[in-house]
Amino acid sequence: MSFPKNFLWGGATSAAQYEGAYLEDGKLPSTADVMPLGSKKHKREITNQINKNKFYPSHTAVDGYHHYQRDIELFHEMGFTAYRFSIAWSRIYPHGDDQNPNQAGLDFYDKIVDQCLKYNIEPIVTLQHFDTPMGLKKYGFWASRKTVDFFVKYAQTLLIHFNNKIKYWLTFNEINNMSTMPWNAGGIKNEESESVKEKAAYFQLLASAKVVRLAHEINSNNKVGMMYNGHFSYPATCSPEDNLANQDFQKEMLFYADVQARGAYPKFKLKELEREKINLPFRSNDKKILSDGKVDFISFSYYMTHTCGVRTKGVIRGLNGLETGYINRYLKKSEWGWPIDPKGLRFGLNVLYDRYQLPLIIVENGLGAVDNFSPDGMIHDNYRIEYIKQHLLQLEKAISYDGIPVMGYLTWAPIDLVSASTGEMNKRYGFIYVDVNDHGKGSFKRIKKSSFYWYQNLIKSNGDRLFEEER
Ligand code: BG6
Repeated sequence: MSFPKNFLWGGATSAAQYEGAYLEDGKLPSTADVMPLGSKKHKREITNQINKNKFYPSHTAVDGYHHYQRDIELFHEMGFTAYRFSIAWSRIYPHGDDQNPNQAGLDFYDKIVDQCLKYNIEPIVTLQHFDTPMGLKKYGFWASRKTVDFFVKYAQTLLIHFNNKIKYWLTFNEINNMSTMPWNAGGIKNEESESVKEKAAYFQLLASAKVVRLAHEINSNNKVGMMYNGHFSYPATCSPEDNLANQDFQKEMLFYADVQARGAYPKFKLKELEREKINLPFRSNDKKILSDGKVDFISFSYYMTHTCGVRTKGVIRGLNGLETGYINRYLKKSEWGWPIDPKGLRFGLNVLYDRYQLPLIIVENGLGAVDNFSPDGMIHDNYRIEYIKQHLLQLEKAISYDGIPVMGYLTWAPIDLVSASTGEMNKRYGFIYVDVNDHGKGSFKRIKKSSFYWYQNLIKSNGDRLFEEER
């Protein structure tokens, strides 16, 4: 048993959760920058502009903007062969609709990419990770077709600028969040109508397809992937009603992947839109754009599975997609209430591969937990090691038993960063600890946790070490 040769090992971060420096070198605010600190119990609010009396975690984050060099060095020390990060659109086109790109923004990402290439780390770049520029508010963010053009222009700038340096591109982080966390996905408030949300999803799907085509035109070696929030679900009971309701949930989530992988809206979605009397702003050429813009591979995040049934309909909107109306009593939960289900990863890989037959890559998986220093001055995060190990054992089964082509495994996140759902720092994911608290106070010093050495050894053995530990 082992992982394929050339399997990509690494980790992933996003600009708004990692970089900080939210107004430095010409950058302007994005939708992530108007979300103050929340908590386990209290959802993050969205302020229409920046309120001086509130604390916004993304403004400083873990100051990756000034620490990236050392951080990538540490990734190299762990043996990473891939690093997924996102480019902040608002560093490149600060308002989103600017005439010309901001050179300082390009320079910053040049340095990140060069640092990766220096260490033979494959950069995997997300074009939008929960951070639409606030300057696009006047158009209604993603509810406008104009935003499609601005996004394609932004993507084109990057595809040309980084030609031959970056090969792997992801268009929208967790595009299916438009159904559950539309503000993060595209600046759409929860209170907006279904019709606005469907329209915004449509425009993102269109924009993604245009970028796929463009990326292939610019360089035939470019590979563009979709990025799916791994919402996989089990039926709450074996009743036919719960099974059908569960299937509905799964289809609602997978519809985004259907469009990106198969190049057209699936019939069930068209029927649903018809029933709800939602008219998408179709134009005659759109069908061709979608069918020409099929992705090369599917990337996804995986943290948990859901349990769904007749109670699920009507609760998923606006609740992070987590509250489905049921609790799976077979699964333990993380400190943040996320069900832990390593076998669900194998289940999810099978769902995606059966449906699309495209190469897959896990671009986020990890455990958010409170880390404490032991008297020896170390953080012994064995819970994190155990979490990752159990997921990797299932991933390996999906490869060797089920025959699924998996390109790589990237953890979320190799270094502590701001939590997207709560804004907390205390919910830590990293192999590298960052000394900063929920309120942005600390030295920003980087400290290796036990998991750092464990992951390093694992990569060194191309995963074989997992089985030695099991024996
Ligand atoms: C994914 C997002 O949904 O989950 C990341 O792509 C996010 O941005 C990650 O950080 C973990 O969620 P959280 O809320 O614990 O940060």
